Amino acid sequence: MLGIYDNEMKLEFVSKSSNEAFARISVAAFASQLDPSIDELADIKTAVSEAVTNCIIHGYENTIGIVKVECKLKSNWIEIQVSDNGKGIEDIELAKRPLYTTKANLERSGMGFTIMESFMDELKIESIPNMGTKVTMKKYITPLDDKNNENMSIANQSKQKEGI
Ligand SMILES: Nc1ncnc2c1ncn2[C@@H]1O[C@H](COP(=O)(O)OP(=O)(O)O)[C@@H](O)[C@H]1O
Ligand SMILES: [Mg+2]
Repeated sequence: MLGIYDNEMKLEFVSKSSNEAFARISVAAFASQLDPSIDELADIKTAVSEAVTNCIIHGYENTIGIVKVECKLKSNWIEIQVSDNGKGIEDIELAKRPLYTTKANLERSGMGFTIMESFMDELKIESIPNMGTKVTMKKYITPLDDKNNENMSIANQSKQKEGI
């Protein structure tokens, strides 16, 4: 790890579904240094949850393997990489389609990649069958000053409405 980012971290854990919450909460704790809004943090948590769940249920299916989560950040963005060494994806474009799933019995079937794409600003999926899958996601976080200005202007607008 070299210093071209403002901060970096890496997690590795076994592919047990109880570790999904561990990963989601750990990434949220790391991302919180960018002062994200509640909505921005919720988007990151949901995207991480979808990516990690995919490694556990699709990548490793009923076997136990290692899931890796790497985060890098700079002043106004965070990049999150979630990877496994599991079974991989044959056709990435097909896998990305809304509602496409190879496990139709699960809740919210087929919407994982669609959710990651809409909640994050960038999504890249790399996969090699029988080698594994790596999902890289990036999200821009509005700097606190801009958020404050926005809140201020909302406050000013309501003051104007109230005639203050
Ligand atoms: N880490 C992974 N390893 C192997 N296959 C995956 C992985 N992530 C996603 N896939 C494949 O892509 C499909 C679509 O994923 P997703 O959009 O999250 O929907 P869902 O998980 O509900 O099936 C999955 O059904 C699976 O076939
Ligand atoms: Mg999924």
